[in-house]
Amino acid sequence: MSGDLNTNKILGAVLATAFVIVAVPQVTGLIYHSEAPEKMGYFVDAPEEAAGGAEEAELPPDWGTVLPTADLAAGEAAFARCQACHTATAGGPNGTGPNLFGVVGRAVAGHAGFAYSEAMVGHKAEAPTWSLDALDQFLTAPGRVVPGTKMSFAGIRDTQTRVNLIAWLRTQGSGGYAIPAPDPARQPGAAAAPAGTEPATEQGAQEAAAASGGQAGGAPDTGAAARPETQTTPVAPPPSDSNPNNNTER
Ligand code: HEC
Repeated sequence: MSGDLNTNKILGAVLATAFVIVAVPQVTGLIYHSEAPEKMGYFVDAPEEAAGGAEEAELPPDWGTVLPTADLAAGEAAFARCQACHTATAGGPNGTGPNLFGVVGRAVAGHAGFAYSEAMVGHKAEAPTWSLDALDQFLTAPGRVVPGTKMSFAGIRDTQTRVNLIAWLRTQGSGGYAIPAPDPARQPGAAAAPAGTEPATEQGAQEAAAASGGQAGGAPDTGAAARPETQTTPVAPPPSDSNPNNNTER
């Protein structure tokens, strides 16, 4: 009799255990419901390579052309962003950043009495002078051009704003820094011209393209004998002068 009872107890225990084994995952499944992700693996939000690449491909400003026509008032207004840290007057005090009087053409990390970062001192070894190009690149993205600089400023993306600002900075003690001659290789459309082609020839090619309905090698060109030099030039898509930025696409 007691033997039967024990058997029942054991059976009961086994059944109860089996019930727990079967039921617990179901119940926990209800509580901790997890769905398979739509995409397996991690998605890493990396910055696009192309963005940086396109920027690099952009022609540097043609200073000989853009400086004489820069908007100095707009440049002075743009300097408001710098004034929290910089003065630009002769003998002006250093703030968080060094005084910038005469900075165009000045030695990098060259203002006496300012404690530059190691990064800026190191940059001086690679690029000793604040040339127009050097300033333009630095002000586009200070932390990219001088990694580790203590100038905590994101940069000015807009090219014309930088040109205006640099033109105005030049009037603050850098008037002696000569404006270079216009450089055809930096002018819009220069990228499309084959090496060694004069810009005048490209202009002629565009006029020829316009005259023949914009199609290269389309209608017979009556100007062939008169302007043989334009015929050897591959015709660029017309016209490019209205948008200085579209040279990056060609
Ligand atoms: C938040 C403060 C801050 C702002 C805003 C700022 N700068 Fe600076 N700037 C600095 C500091 C700090 C340095 C020194 C960097 C170093 O030593 O790494 C510096 C360095 C420079 C240098 C190099 C000077 C030299 O003698 O080598 C130039 C040029 C410059 N800044 C221009 C500008 C211009 C133009 C603006 C405005 C568009 C600007 N900065 C905005 C803090 C600032």
